[in-house]
Amino acid sequence: MDIKIFDTAKEASKEVFHEFEQALASGATTFGLATGSTPEDLYEYLTSSDLDFSNATALNLDEYFGLPADHPQSYATFMDKHLFSKKPFKETFIPNGLATDVEAEIARYNALLEEHPIDLQILGIGQNAHIGFNEPGASRHMKTQLVDLAESTIQANARFFDSIEDVPTKAFSMGLASIMQSKRILLLAFGESKAQAVKDMVEGPVTEEVPASLLQEHPNVAVYLDRAAASLL
Ligand code: GLP
Repeated sequence: MDIKIFDTAKEASKEVFHEFEQALASGATTFGLATGSTPEDLYEYLTSSDLDFSNATALNLDEYFGLPADHPQSYATFMDKHLFSKKPFKETFIPNGLATDVEAEIARYNALLEEHPIDLQILGIGQNAHIGFNEPGASRHMKTQLVDLAESTIQANARFFDSIEDVPTKAFSMGLASIMQSKRILLLAFGESKAQAVKDMVEGPVTEEVPASLLQEHPNVAVYLDRAAASLL
């Protein structure tokens, strides 16, 4: 793992933006994208740049189960608002939170991932070291799946909903095996609340109990941190 520490989240995000620039220049066509507050600065750099994604494909990591795409807190809405409405891609994919045939939706997403191998994958990290929605204990062999969210994740995400009862308890998520197939992975973590998860990911043993620690086994990962997220390293 290549650990890169910056004074601020903005400076780190600027460098990640340059990674996108270089990736496009060297022929990358397929980008794996993440939601959450962490990549917001990156998406702002992308939308205010003149980078051209009109020949590129984006696949998102995850989507809440049970939310329609146009729900204000769906990840589809998040991506439209922060990136896709301002920076057009050739095509974008995200799991369908309202899918009634769960197995068919999982198969559809796995087929998309086979068809579009990811050149550059962006990841955030949960306070419990989840990546995508692969919670502690998730199998390293899983591809896309419907997962139960950890209680701590539901609590962490409740800030975006009117009440904790409104937070979905399940989500479709690319699995750890899907994420590990990406050619290059950039994990971003900012703020003190991520410091323990970052330490466990980087310095701890590789274990499914710390999903992000599996990234230690990927040959091409860079971790972009601000000082607060790096404070326990
Ligand atoms: C969410 C998402 C993750 C994200 C993480 C951290 O639950 N499924 O993809 O990385 O939590 O979110 P934030 O960036 O808001 O801290």
